[in-house]
Amino acid sequence: AEAIEVLSMTQNDPLCQNTNMSGDSKDVLTDFEYLRTKAYDLAHDRFGNRIYIRGLIEFTNICKNDCYYCGIRKSNSHVDRYRLTKDQILACADEGYVLGFRTFVLQGGEDGGFSDGAIADIVRCIKERHPDCAVTLSFGEHSYETYKLWRMAGADRYLLRHETANRKHYERLHPEKMSYDNRVRCLYNLKSLGYQVGSGFMVGSPYQTSVNLAEDLHFLAKLQPQMIGIGPYVPHKETPFAKMEQGTVRQTLVMISMLRLMFPKALIPSTTSLGTIAADGRERGFMHGANVVMPNLSPVSVRKKYELYDNKICTGEESAQCRGCLDRRAEAFGFQIVVDRGDYIS
Ligand code: 5AD
Ligand code: FES
Repeated sequence: AEAIEVLSMTQNDPLCQNTNMSGDSKDVLTDFEYLRTKAYDLAHDRFGNRIYIRGLIEFTNICKNDCYYCGIRKSNSHVDRYRLTKDQILACADEGYVLGFRTFVLQGGEDGGFSDGAIADIVRCIKERHPDCAVTLSFGEHSYETYKLWRMAGADRYLLRHETANRKHYERLHPEKMSYDNRVRCLYNLKSLGYQVGSGFMVGSPYQTSVNLAEDLHFLAKLQPQMIGIGPYVPHKETPFAKMEQGTVRQTLVMISMLRLMFPKALIPSTTSLGTIAADGRERGFMHGANVVMPNLSPVSVRKKYELYDNKICTGEESAQCRGCLDRRAEAFGFQIVVDRGDYIS
């Protein structure tokens, strides 16, 4: 926890403004830069300059939950709610396939309007049309039986961030109806069903301490997920946490590097939230050990409606084709976006 705190503090680090991305040529490295080079080198040994992409399909912004930080929480009456049809979802995947995506992530709020069977059917159809692709679900908490049904239908992976590994902190971020125990149970159920599991947390979420972040690392060390997604907390104006401070780029980068060192084989995305608080955020994430990016494949017409936080990037008309844009941006930092499922290799 102390290391996280010290490394995250900008003011104690006069060289921190010197963002020398090439790293090792400097005689004296700041601790922050030292951490970065270690994480970068480890990622490079294993993955070379390859970055894996996942096509994100945000298929519903309807949610029965009311997380205090989330823009699509049930109580936010300003959201224009939508549900994509099965045909729309399949069209997103088809389009993504042409663009070189070999993983599709179906992400949605906890929307009871999709039956378990309907989700299974969509998974099955995507796998039939694109047998060389992985399907990832990111659809919240469900029973063991439901997760099993979806796994049998062909789902390969599941994303469910634990959000925080401290029970008290969890209770400050979520209303009473949501349970930390159930969150954890879901994650272990997913693992036992043979999903590649992704977990993670927000950096700088309200009331979070450095000890909490250390607890997150400890929790992940026990869970041993294949994927770990983290990003800065970014306020959304129509939530109870609207006035809470945003997470920092620096602390997020510190945590990405620490995760890389702890989990050399993990698939770690450089997230949209990091790209939202800094123009070069996602590229800097790669420089700190991240190796995945998850561009939006949702129809442009719904993108602005899936606003978990304010000013989310890639939601405008110009973003219909994120792939080309990301290719160029990754290349400018020496990385190459590849056409690959990007499975976890043990
Ligand atoms: N800022 C940053 N991340 C957020 N998420 C939800 N709301 C916010 C926010 N305001 C994250 C949560 C969730 C993931 C899909 O998005 O960690 O698990
Ligand atoms: Fe939908 Fe948190 S508000 S899961």
